[in-house]
Amino acid sequence: MNVYFDNAASTKLDPRVLEAMMPYFTDYFGNPSSIHKEGKFLKVLVEDARELIASFLGVKPKEVFFTSGGTEANNFAIKGLAFSNPDNSKNHIITSSVEHPAVIDSFIYLKNFGYRVSFAAPDKSGIIHSGEIERLITPETLLVSIMHANNELGSVNDVKAISSICREHGVRFHSDTVQSVGKTEVKPKELGLDFMTMSAHKFYGPKGVGILFKDENVRIDKYFHGGGQERDMRGGTENVPGIAGLSKAVEILESSMNDDIGHYKRINTNVRNELNAAFGGDVIFNSDEKNSLPNILNVTFNPDRLKVPIGLLPVKLDLSGISVSGGSACSSGSLKPSRVLLETGMDERLALSSIRISAGRFNKDEDVTKLIEALKNILSA
Ligand SMILES: Cc1ncc(COP(=O)(O)O)c(C=O)c1O
Repeated sequence: MNVYFDNAASTKLDPRVLEAMMPYFTDYFGNPSSIHKEGKFLKVLVEDARELIASFLGVKPKEVFFTSGGTEANNFAIKGLAFSNPDNSKNHIITSSVEHPAVIDSFIYLKNFGYRVSFAAPDKSGIIHSGEIERLITPETLLVSIMHANNELGSVNDVKAISSICREHGVRFHSDTVQSVGKTEVKPKELGLDFMTMSAHKFYGPKGVGILFKDENVRIDKYFHGGGQERDMRGGTENVPGIAGLSKAVEILESSMNDDIGHYKRINTNVRNELNAAFGGDVIFNSDEKNSLPNILNVTFNPDRLKVPIGLLPVKLDLSGISVSGGSACSSGSLKPSRVLLETGMDERLALSSIRISAGRFNKDEDVTKLIEALKNILSA
């Protein structure tokens, strides 16, 4: 397999997580809703996992809802609030133009139901400033949804400043924290969030499982109608192996997050230094060094010096044994310039000459050497 620098797209399952999940594929296969021993045993596991995650986040267990991942949690919060809207006069919702499609498309969909949508614009490093949100809020605003950290640039928004503005104006605030969990501290109550989204496969847990945190005082509509699971807010038999894996991944974060962050910083600094040494003025760093996640580096190479057809750098790197992303994971494979980079004001040619390098727990120092060697070969071929 390739040297993997695409951890913002998905991470390798930690072997300890796999071990924690295995019994729920084999020995403990019942349904948590069943009244017999097998069912009750699994119910306890699900509720223990909820407690562990709640304690990690500093919230109440009843404020944690298991979902099928970040996409569902974003849909659940946004549509759930919009459809329960107790006050029909509030028909305005605000997000940014650099959110994940799960947020942007949910907002656009809500236009069909009479909502007016405003998109806040980022600065050139992808940051959404609280002043921009304040400017957009009106007495009709129901909801603001702004991500904690951007998935392509790693830029971290001051969600605490945004949440206090929302609170002042009586507006609900959702933050997609899929990229920031495990890379920086995320405590919804301290950040003033009404809703937050997280996804296990971004921090060495399994795919297809995540959570929505919802403040206990906020009422929303259920999103999946079904068998009454998740306190009748999200129907569907619980993904027990996934929940066991998510819980283990969070438990590992509790003890290793600081080491992980130190590791990301070291790898990222090495990549920055090596890129500067090798390419000097022909490389631009798009991620703001101070306000960025420690694991994501978005860089643009001088398109006039690239010896590959425009847009094909990630493909060339792949052929050289290195996996990076040329935009967000969802749009990789297409040659379209990254929407997020265009939104920051970058022109198409530069956007197509950019890559996202995202480090993970399992990257080694020698991976950096291999990445730089591959880039040198490609750029000077
Ligand atoms: C910021 C952000 N939000 C949401 C998602 C979607 O999460 P999931 O893959 O669990 O549906 C992603 C995944 O790339 C993401 O980066």
